[in-house]
Order: sequence, then C-alpha cells, then structure tokens
Amino acid sequence: MKKIQVAIDGPASAGKSTVAKIVAKKLHFIYCDTGAMYRSVTFAALKNHVKLDDDQALKKLLKTIEIRFVPAEPEQRVFVNDEEVTQAIRTPEITNNVSLVSAQPSVRAELTKRQQEIAEAGGIVMDGRDIGTTVLPNAEVKIFLVASVHERAVRRFKENQTKGIDTPLDILEKEIEERDYKDSHREISPLTQAKDAVLVDTTSLTIDQVVDQILEIINQKT
Ligand code: C5P
Repeated sequence: MKKIQVAIDGPASAGKSTVAKIVAKKLHFIYCDTGAMYRSVTFAALKNHVKLDDDQALKKLLKTIEIRFVPAEPEQRVFVNDEEVTQAIRTPEITNNVSLVSAQPSVRAELTKRQQEIAEAGGIVMDGRDIGTTVLPNAEVKIFLVASVHERAVRRFKENQTKGIDTPLDILEKEIEERDYKDSHREISPLTQAKDAVLVDTTSLTIDQVVDQILEIINQKT
C-alpha cells in the first residue's frame, strides 16, 4: 500500500477515532488523534491557570509543552511533557472546555503546524475536525463521518459507563449539540465537510461496516 494520507473528519462522537485506529492498523499506517492534542492543551491550560480564551497566554504556554503519543494496546498513551494524560484528557471538564481553547488562533496555528509535521512522510490516518480542509488539504483520501445526535449520545453514554462516568443521556445530547455548534461556527477552520470528502453516515452501521466502507473508499482512490 502506497504511504498515503487519510483524513477523517466529523462531529463529536461520530466514531472517528475508533474506526481511524482500526483502519490505520490494517494498513500498517500511523494513527494521529488531533482531538487529543487540543484536549492536551486544554489540560495544560487548566493546570497552569491560563485563561482558556487568552490567545497570547495560550501561545506562550504552547512553547513550554510537548505532546507525545506512545503506541500501546488497547489505546495509545498521551503525554504532556513527562506527564501521562491519557485518561485525564477524557474527563467531562476537558470535554466541555476544549472548544473554547480550540477556537483560539494561536492554538490552531501551532497545532496545525505540528500535525503537518507528523503527517509529512505519509502512511497516516489522522482524525479531527479540519484535517481535510486545513491540515492536509492534499490528502489522497478524505472521509467525513457523521451520525445522528441521539446515536452519538448513546455511544458516549456506553463509553462513559465503562469509565464510571454517569452523565445522563439527555445531558450528553445537549453537550454534543453544543460542541457541534461551537466547532462548526468558530471563525478559524470550522468543522465542515471538504468538497472532495466522501460522506459516511454511521448511524445504523456497526464499527466493522464503517471500517469496510472506508477501506473500500481507500482502495478505489489508490
Ligand atoms: O475529537 P475530539 O472530540 O477528541 O476533539 C476534541 C475537541 O478538539 C473538538 O470538540 C474540537 O473543539 C477540537 N478539535 C479541533 N480540531 C481538530 C480536532 C479537534 O478543533 N482537528
């Protein structure tokens, strides 16, 4: 398989990271979770008492933090400098604050640069909100993954249960709608389907079916 770039974008909890990880493994490609990078900056900002909408303070903070992914099973580990944040970046506090941080111009500029460096050599599946539109506009394959709000909330609810988080379903639906709205309406690189991206609606599909569809799209394009 040629070492291409595969961009997978879509709204919160559409299943991007789950399928991106499997597709990357099947193709022997690297997987890069860009949401984890925005979450890591949010974690560092909260820890260092940096205001989440203070663009210049966040720019300064970013100069002091390295975000690293370390391959591991069942999921890769994430580090901010020497501190492991794999679990800490998935808490409701981070989830509900990350859109504010990710709307700041300096944060987007810096993380876009880092993501482009990671993807430079190809052989990568990268998921996020603006990969096909901004980070990797020349990616050979672009997928836009969607699912209904209800279905996404149910998936998040089940995932939360395994982690001992018990946010009710209706609250999760509201949180997902709010995050979709913020991510789609921000000024810089809002969540939007790239013109050349293929839309995949995962609402009534199993993970295996979504993976198969994406592999089929990759086969057709390469
Ligand atoms: O994918 P995940 O839900 O972990 O992303 C967390 C947040 O990071 C998103 O809600 C969005 O605000 C931000 N994000 C982004 N651009 C990306 C990836 C994530 O703005 N490429």
